Amino acid sequence: MTTVTAAEAAYVVAALLFILSLAGLSRHRTSRSGVVWGITGMAIALAATIGLASRSITATGLVLIAVATALGAGIGLWRARVVEMTGMPELIAIMHSLVGLAAAFVGWNGYLDVDPELTGSLLGIHHAEVFIGVFIGAVTFTGSVVAYLKLSARIDSRPLMLPGKHVLNVSALVAFVVLTVAFVARPGMGLLIAVTVIALALGAHLVASIGGGDMPVVVSMLNSYSGWAAAASGFLLANNLLIVTGALVGSSGAYLSYIMCKAMNRSFLSVIAGGFGTPAAADDGEQGEHREINAEETAELLRDASSVIITPGYGMAVAQAQYPVAELARKLRERGVEVRFGIHPVAGRLPGHMNVLLAEANVPYDIVLEMDEINDDFPATSVVLVIGANDTVNPAAIDNPASPIAGMPVLHVWEAAHVVVFKRSMAVGYAGVQNPLFFRENTQMLFGDAKQRVEDIVRGLDALDAPVPEMAATSR
Ligand code: TAP
Repeated sequence: MTTVTAAEAAYVVAALLFILSLAGLSRHRTSRSGVVWGITGMAIALAATIGLASRSITATGLVLIAVATALGAGIGLWRARVVEMTGMPELIAIMHSLVGLAAAFVGWNGYLDVDPELTGSLLGIHHAEVFIGVFIGAVTFTGSVVAYLKLSARIDSRPLMLPGKHVLNVSALVAFVVLTVAFVARPGMGLLIAVTVIALALGAHLVASIGGGDMPVVVSMLNSYSGWAAAASGFLLANNLLIVTGALVGSSGAYLSYIMCKAMNRSFLSVIAGGFGTPAAADDGEQGEHREINAEETAELLRDASSVIITPGYGMAVAQAQYPVAELARKLRERGVEVRFGIHPVAGRLPGHMNVLLAEANVPYDIVLEMDEINDDFPATSVVLVIGANDTVNPAAIDNPASPIAGMPVLHVWEAAHVVVFKRSMAVGYAGVQNPLFFRENTQMLFGDAKQRVEDIVRGLDALDAPVPEMAATSR
């Protein structure tokens, strides 16, 4: 068997493993094996590619590849080990930016180092691939960098509203099409520099124009773009596995974006067009006074409750409050209180973030309900505990058409008899909009770190159960 045949066979095996990996990752229970399939596929792909390359490159080239692989693997392992779960989306965004940058470099390399055997229409196709690869790669690169900056709160998460922003986006796309035709007819470095600059600016602008509440869709959309960027590089490098893998990532990312858009009542096209139709940030206006409650009073409220719904959000993840929350739920259930969890599809910073945390703390699956399963039950609920959630319980999404989160489905927590909101201050949530829930008659704020406050409540409940000293004396 020749090296080429062996490498092609290895590519087929790797492609099958990537498909198995995607299938595994689609369910919580099989996600670990999905990761193992993916790692195995990538190891085979790397070995086959290096084997193929070794036929035509020098020993120095091979050493450079080994150093680059070790360096990349080392950085990857280190980042994955130290990253907090709340920091995963920004890690993913920065990884996508590297895929985009690599695709843009591969495109530029394809321009500078043309195979002399390519002539006629094949050369035209090659130059089209170069141009499209550089464009997709550069859009993905800057789009992902801006997403990283927003997700890590290094820049404001509110949408950038440049005057005529949609005209700017459409002009960039039209310029890309015109320049592609010109480049294929007469490939020149000036045109390639121009498309690189346009694509870098377009990527940054598209993502900057999208509000914080829509960032989950942006992350999955950039995932899709990075796949298409890799596929474009695959065409340029004539590497079938890169084409297949890029198409798998591109299409699965596009499908995930579509599912997210449906869950959040957003138009898919509006989001990929840089938040087309997004209202400007609303004037939050005067909201009135909020009321406060302490942990002991909350314990009393819970003691008298017949049904409780807990709606966790990003703050529960930050505080790592899932363990005391699980303990509180267990204690209340022992007392005969009906306790359930209401999970918003984008609560936290990752799809399924809250489900993973609650599973980690051994909360039974059957009391953890999705938003659609529980939203009608709030009016018959005694107490709702909003633990570090904000945007996902914001009634402005329903009541205020001018709000940047207008139309996004939210948990109707305000319909319960009492709402207790756990947070540290009156600060806004991720989307940067004020939450009128905090000022409602039936809402009380419990300030402080969510973990400490929940632990205080658990202690408060124990204290309420303990016999009062006189009674203890009498019974002795
Ligand atoms: P957020 O709107 O992000 O609000 C979290 C709240 O937690 C904040 O108001 C914060 O208030 C509070 N908090 C932070 N640390 C805390 C602590 N240690 N103890 C108590 N409270 C704490 O949360 P959410 O309702 O989960 O909404 C998620 C948002 O993220 C949505 O806008 C969503 O679109 C976006 N997003 C989601 C994803 C995915 S896929 N889930 C990805 C990217 C973005 P204080 O600072 O006052 O404490």
